[in-house]
Amino acid sequence: MIMKSNNRRTFIKKSLLAAAGTVVAGNVSAQISTPRDAEGPFYPITPQPDKDADLTKVQGKPGVAEGTIIEIHGQVLDTELNPIEGATIDLWQANSFGKYHHPHDNSDAPIDEHFQSWAIIQSGNNGQFRFKTIMPGAYPYDAKPEDQRTPHIHMKIGKHGYEPVLTQMYFPDQALNKTDGLYQRKTAEQQAMMTAKYIDKSNEFLYNIFLEKF
Ligand SMILES: [Fe+2]
Repeated sequence: MIMKSNNRRTFIKKSLLAAAGTVVAGNVSAQISTPRDAEGPFYPITPQPDKDADLTKVQGKPGVAEGTIIEIHGQVLDTELNPIEGATIDLWQANSFGKYHHPHDNSDAPIDEHFQSWAIIQSGNNGQFRFKTIMPGAYPYDAKPEDQRTPHIHMKIGKHGYEPVLTQMYFPDQALNKTDGLYQRKTAEQQAMMTAKYIDKSNEFLYNIFLEKF
């Protein structure tokens, strides 16, 4: 009976993985939490009422954010691959010009008043989440134009009972991934876990997040 129960559990986990697409690429193990990354200096400090899952529009403004519209979805899972519902994902990113909506971002890149730039969303049924945004622009790092941060989305993910994860989500096939200091500091396995995957090479990406229980 115990064997059966274990087999069943294994089966459920495998089904979950299949449902989520390719949760793990290559040799990446899902048994560790999503790797941490630097918070960076631009966590939003200006209050904004609209923090919903569509960052391409700002409530009360008729326009749409500039740039390539993309959708990102996935699941929040524990390290045993059980879905986590009700996890909070607090995410912020640069606009398509590489500018943060933050008073300390002194770059000359323009602000996009139609870009929401910050969202706080929750995982729902089966740990699933989804948000719509624009491809973030690269931006100079440490005011050195030759050092560009590769496109990324900052995230804080948490739920009571789990170790919170502060990280950055990266994109596949970005030339700047090869020179980005933070990305290159990671092992290949960590990079694979932190990099979203194309869905049919469209503007849709899969990104799963793994949290460890306390
Ligand atoms: Fe950043």
